[in-house]
Amino acid sequence: MVNSQAMVEARSLCKDYGANRAVDEVSFQVSRGEVVGFLGPNGAGKSTTMKMLTGYLNPTAGSALVAGVDVGDDPIAAKRRIGYLPENAPLYDDMMVADFLNYVADVRAVDGDLRKQRLQTICRRCGLDDILGKNVGQLSKGYRQRVGLAQAMVHDPDLLILDEPTSGLDPNQIVEIRELIRELGREKTVILSTHILPEVQASCDRVIIISGGKLVADDTPEMLSGSDGGAVVRVVVRPDSASAAEPTLAAVGGVSGVTSVGVEPDGHVFRVRCAPGEDPREAIFRAAVEHGLVLIDLHRERVSLEDTFRELTTGEVQSHA
Ligand SMILES: Nc1ncnc2c1ncn2[C@@H]1O[C@H](COP(=O)(O)OP(=O)(O)OP(=O)(O)O)[C@@H](O)[C@H]1O
Ligand SMILES: [Mg+2]
Repeated sequence: MVNSQAMVEARSLCKDYGANRAVDEVSFQVSRGEVVGFLGPNGAGKSTTMKMLTGYLNPTAGSALVAGVDVGDDPIAAKRRIGYLPENAPLYDDMMVADFLNYVADVRAVDGDLRKQRLQTICRRCGLDDILGKNVGQLSKGYRQRVGLAQAMVHDPDLLILDEPTSGLDPNQIVEIRELIRELGREKTVILSTHILPEVQASCDRVIIISGGKLVADDTPEMLSGSDGGAVVRVVVRPDSASAAEPTLAAVGGVSGVTSVGVEPDGHVFRVRCAPGEDPREAIFRAAVEHGLVLIDLHRERVSLEDTFRELTTGEVQSHA
């Protein structure tokens, strides 16, 4: 599906490091104004994907588009649209915070009154006013992250790509940065990676999960966590029934969404979300018979985003049913 409104589009992105395929055919779209959480275990390929989206790393195959511009064809135009907080934000330790931000403004060619105004707003939003005279190297991790966020915003980009913006922060700082991100999300498109699952539920419209370099889920946090009041039914069909299963399941009354989890030893697993108060198990059984699906298992379960994450990234199936 081609969406001309997409702010970001990853088209079959691949990255090989020698013989290791770190990112494998990852495709997704992010619409203007969305806040998307990027999840995955250590080494899943999150940072590598983000580096390809921001033009800091060339894909081995596939392409990344930002506001319709191919990042590989015109990395400078793409970078103008993007604010990037890299993992372990590289900052100049022996510079004062104020000087560092002015230096970033020089590089970004933000001058005159606009610079003054912009830096004032950013410093207020990121809570930097009291530390502008400190050396970057003396800052605590939380304040380093704030400076990292501030430098990403100096050119007022439409899109923020934030690699673990809350990593290493204390719980109070996490809440503050999360609120800042939520506020930014009202006017900007944001892609952030994190290992903190409640953060995703608090801040994101959508969640992309990658595991072993592959995209394994792209859905709303509600859909992935079962927190929208409806239950989840786990449906297993024989793999040769899988292609017919998704539309059949989606058409059953009381079903609000269907996610393909993939093939497991006992068959192809689908996660079927039920509308609040609905129990469509009997209707699923009847629809399966009517459409010739070979149903192997069908049961209701209670799930959390953590369960879904574990199921999709380790193959372990958590069930509290
Ligand atoms: N510069 C590099 N050279 C070789 N291999 C690399 C390089 N950078 C990353 N990798 C490998 O690519 C894979 C994906 O790494 P990446 O840093 O993208 O993961 P991640 O999802 O960001 O993990 P984390 O949660 O630990 O930050 C890993 O196997 C990693 O070892
Ligand atoms: Mg990383």
